[in-house]
Amino acid sequence: MATVESVKDLRTPALIIDLDQARRNAEGMLERFLSLGFQLRPHMKTHKTLECADIMTGGSRRCIVVSTLAEASFDADNGYDDILYAYPLLSLFHAVVDNRLALQELKKRPLKQGKISDTSGVELTGMYAHCGNTYASQGEEQIKAVARETTMITLQFMEKLKAAGIQGTKSSIGSTPSCSHPVPDMAMLSEVHPGNYIFYGLYCHVLLRAAVPHWILLWVGSHDGGGRLPTGYAIIEGHPELKLLSMTQEHGRVEPISGKLDFKQFPLGSLLTLMPYHACATAMMHPVYFVHSKGKIIDTWKPARGW
Ligand SMILES: Cc1ncc(COP(=O)(O)O)c(C=O)c1O
Repeated sequence: MATVESVKDLRTPALIIDLDQARRNAEGMLERFLSLGFQLRPHMKTHKTLECADIMTGGSRRCIVVSTLAEASFDADNGYDDILYAYPLLSLFHAVVDNRLALQELKKRPLKQGKISDTSGVELTGMYAHCGNTYASQGEEQIKAVARETTMITLQFMEKLKAAGIQGTKSSIGSTPSCSHPVPDMAMLSEVHPGNYIFYGLYCHVLLRAAVPHWILLWVGSHDGGGRLPTGYAIIEGHPELKLLSMTQEHGRVEPISGKLDFKQFPLGSLLTLMPYHACATAMMHPVYFVHSKGKIIDTWKPARGW
């Protein structure tokens, strides 16, 4: 348990998680795919903690995706089973094929009866597509169009596998946008694997402190997504007039979206709460997460780190 009692008393920068909101996010996704009748395989890459993993799997401790071997062994050591390491292993085998070079490698080992020949002990168990291009969509209809197209291409590929005599392979697609707005065709897949929904990006708050003349100086961390929001790399809670303009490793620059900054409003030591654009990259920078409910710190979570 954390010794600090309130979010307001935390030393900053600190990553804080609203537990009630995270639970609602996870339950929403679990219920959605339970009612659609197919398997949710949540991705752990955003948070890399056991606590969030338990929330996202509803306590089953089964059927997850990870992005590092460090996460895989951390989860396995804590009783998790059926873990998919979703990373292309270029010269070993290619359950995930994402470029021409990988395809050439796969062609060197033609598929035969569900096995990759000449590679004993390796079996093709499924096709996996992320559809991260949903993040470039403008609104629900475009997200659905990408989800529909990815589903269609994946299913067509499954048909080709069947025609080649390869049966029983799983098909899986998913990103948080596509799984938040699933299309009916997705029901023909075996699984979906979103991950970011545990925080939904902007639900992940970072508290910061410090200020210098000309611009406000923050201690933050991720370059990702800067151009995507009118407010820059993050939304600054309670200050829609401000923009997080640029960031280096440990500093960020805030300016007003228009006009001049009123420095009297932000004396040295002012505290800002940021909802960063990219929750995964932000979480990655913190060795500990402070978990709160209605502003009261109730726990601290330690994520898996390393590769
Ligand atoms: C391979 C892979 N699968 C699944 C996901 C989860 O997607 P999202 O973060 O949109 O939920 C990611 C996210 O980057 C990914 O890289």
